[in-house]
Amino acid sequence: MRRRWMAAQRRRRRAFAKMTGSRRPRPRECEPGPSFCLCRAAAAQIKSPNDNLSAADRVGNREIHLSKDNAERKSQSRPAFHSQISTFVSDGKYPILASGTPMNRKKMTVLELCAGAGGQALGFEDAGFEHLGLVELDHHACQTLRFNRPAWNVIETDLNYFDASPFAGKVDVVAAGLPCPPFSKAGKQLGERDERNLFPAALSIIKTVRPRAVVIENVRGILDAVFEDYRTFIEGQLEGYWTGWKLLNASDYGVPQLRPRVNFVAILKGFEHSFDWPTPKPLNTPTVGESLYSLMTANGWKGAEAWRKLACEIAPTLVGGSKKHGGPDLGPTRAKRAWATLGVDGMGIANEAPGPDFLGMPKLTVRMAARIQGFPDDWQFAGGKTAAYRQVGNAFPPPVAAAVACSVKKCLEAKVKLKVAG
Ligand SMILES: C[S@@+](CC[C@H](N)C(=O)[O-])C[C@H]1O[C@@H](n2cnc3c(N)ncnc32)[C@H](O)[C@@H]1O
Repeated sequence: MRRRWMAAQRRRRRAFAKMTGSRRPRPRECEPGPSFCLCRAAAAQIKSPNDNLSAADRVGNREIHLSKDNAERKSQSRPAFHSQISTFVSDGKYPILASGTPMNRKKMTVLELCAGAGGQALGFEDAGFEHLGLVELDHHACQTLRFNRPAWNVIETDLNYFDASPFAGKVDVVAAGLPCPPFSKAGKQLGERDERNLFPAALSIIKTVRPRAVVIENVRGILDAVFEDYRTFIEGQLEGYWTGWKLLNASDYGVPQLRPRVNFVAILKGFEHSFDWPTPKPLNTPTVGESLYSLMTANGWKGAEAWRKLACEIAPTLVGGSKKHGGPDLGPTRAKRAWATLGVDGMGIANEAPGPDFLGMPKLTVRMAARIQGFPDDWQFAGGKTAAYRQVGNAFPPPVAAAVACSVKKCLEAKVKLKVAG
């Protein structure tokens, strides 16, 4: 089992390396462990709503946006891998410290809110967290999560009506990628007056669950002066926690895209002294041309080499597109212009890579967009092109999420070590 997992991890790292053009150094202090260690106690108490999913739903044979070779590989390997996972649960009997912190537990636990296609979830998994639940409203996004990680407890529901009480006291971190439109310029920055604002729902869940730490991702706009009172309100709701806000650029973490995103972190008081925001490592970041060259040549495009040289910068921020708009494209006019300077036609999303004699500017495929977001190549997206692209564009790039998750994990572990020593 361990060997199988190591092989899967190696494949995943190779995919990351291929994407970023270099091996992503694994943070030593934050070594991810195997993702098969489900806590039996938690698993028994928190019943998965996916129990009655049909086999077809799990494999996603019609809805999943699969590339041909991946589809073949997954249909063979996934069920076997899943059956191994379910026989490898831990016994759930952890020694407990006086503080109530389980000791010798292999993994810290996380509850994901607004999990989308799993960008943030993948980052937390990479940092060595075990997911006890992932809440998401969008059916296609839930299918994506179920297909890629059949063992995950995906809860398809509206966050406003989610009962978090079964998770109370069991979760180390609540992580959330709350909808951005209430705080984005494109969404008119209505903040708390926007019905899509899910901060109240998330704060209420956090109060119920009382995790040791919280990570919430949102757009840069939430740091605007107009939201100063609202930020203070959010901080005030988290009594007993240290809180901090930080703008992180995805390109500082090996992702070939600018993508500035705000991270809000809250840590139970007493733990915060060991918390450091992740350190930017911008030097290894590949260009769009380097990242996408192998995908652009998939159908033998003769112009790919010239295109690679032209696409010698990182990408502008990918946008997910709104459900209100029609088909997918690469965003507003300004973004499309920026894509054009990289030799990419932003007017839509292509079904496949350009053919041998293609002339002009190619469009991105969903898979190319996923690489630009830092997803590994074997991560599949459910639904048609529009639904799949929306999930990709809305995601928190996994490498950035992993960097934040590692920082939080290190901080919580440091406190555990102190307790043991004292
Ligand atoms: C910014 S995206 C999350 C991205 C995700 N964390 C990731 O890293 O891939 C916001 C997500 O919130 C979901 N969402 C919107 N309203 C919701 C609600 N009322 N309840 C649950 N999820 C909701 C959307 O479907 C979308 O997937």
